[in-house]
Amino acid sequence: MFQRFRRTRLNKHLRALTRETTISVNDFIYPLFVRSGEGIKTEVASMPGVYQMSIDEILKECQELKTLGIYAIILFGIPDVKDSVGSDALCDHGIIATTIKAIKKEHPEMFVVTDLCFCEYTDHGHCGILDHKHETVHNDATLKISAQQAIVHAKAGADMIAPSGMMDGIIATLREALDSAGYENMPIMSYSTKFASGYYGPFRDVAESTPSFGDRASYQMDPANRREAIAESIADEAQGADILMVKPALAYLDIVREIKDNTTLPLAVYNVSGEYAMLKFAGVNNLIDYERVVMETMIGFKRAGADIIISYHAKEVAKLLQC
Ligand code: PBG
Ligand code: ZN
Repeated sequence: MFQRFRRTRLNKHLRALTRETTISVNDFIYPLFVRSGEGIKTEVASMPGVYQMSIDEILKECQELKTLGIYAIILFGIPDVKDSVGSDALCDHGIIATTIKAIKKEHPEMFVVTDLCFCEYTDHGHCGILDHKHETVHNDATLKISAQQAIVHAKAGADMIAPSGMMDGIIATLREALDSAGYENMPIMSYSTKFASGYYGPFRDVAESTPSFGDRASYQMDPANRREAIAESIADEAQGADILMVKPALAYLDIVREIKDNTTLPLAVYNVSGEYAMLKFAGVNNLIDYERVVMETMIGFKRAGADIIISYHAKEVAKLLQC
C-alpha cells in the first residue's frame, strides 16, 4: 500500500500520468500598462520586470508575448490628463481606445482584455464619480459612465471587458448596454470578489491611481468576510457575467475553492502587484529559489480551483514551461 505511492514518486512518467494539476501557458493573462509618448519603457521601482510603456513599445511587447505563446493581455491606461469624471476613459481617442486599435491592427490574434475602471483616470484616484459631498463614490452615477466606457472599449475592438470597480449592479448594467449597442457577444469578466487589500500598493504606483483621500473600503470587500465574498460572485453570475474572479489570490485561496464549488463559470485569480513584488524581492535577494516558488505558487492557484491566472509572472512562467 505504501509502495504504490513510492513508485509514483520514483518514475517520472508515472508521476506525470498521475499529476492532478497542471499549468499551461494558455492559463495566463498578462497585464500591460500603457501611457502616451514614444519609445517609453519605464521600469516600475516596486515591481522589477514590469514597465509603463508607450504604444510602440506595447506593440513590440505583443510580438514577444506571441513568441512565448501568450495571447491574452489585460490593458491598464495611464492618461495624460486626469479630471473629476475620468474623461480620457470615455473618449474614442483616449489612451486605452487608441491602444486597443493599434494592437488589433498589428496583432489581430492577440486577445485584448480591458480593465474597466476610473481610478487611473480621475484626479481624486477613486474608482468612479464622487457623490455630492465628495466623500465616497456615487454608485449609480458611476454605473452610467461605466456603460459608456464599455462601449468605447468595444468600439475600439476589445475582446473582453473586465470591470474592476465593484460597483453594485455593474454586470447587469454593462450587459444591457453592450447588448443594446450590438455587442451581444462581448464577454464580461467580472472582478466579482475583490477585497480592499494592501497588496495593491505597487500597482497604484505604476498606474498612478492612489486615492488622494480615504480608501476603497466603501466599494471593495472586507478581507474578513467569507460568506459575503461568495455571495458577490454568485450575484455576478446571476447578472450575466461570463467569468468570475477573486483578487488578490494568495491570501484568498479558500475563497477561490469555495466560489469554484458554488458556481459554474470559469474562475480567474488576480495574482496582484504586491504578491509579485514579495516574490521578486525575495528572489533578487537570494532568499528563495525564485523559479521554484513561482511555479509552486501557480500550481497552488490552479489546485485551489482557478482556471485563469492574471499574473505579472506570466512571461517567466512561459519561459520555464518551455525548458
Ligand atoms: C483598478 C485595479 C486595481 C488593480 C487592478 N485593477 C487597483 C485597485 O483596486 O486599487 C490591482 C492590481 C494589482 O495590484 O496588481 N481598480
Ligand atoms: Zn479602480
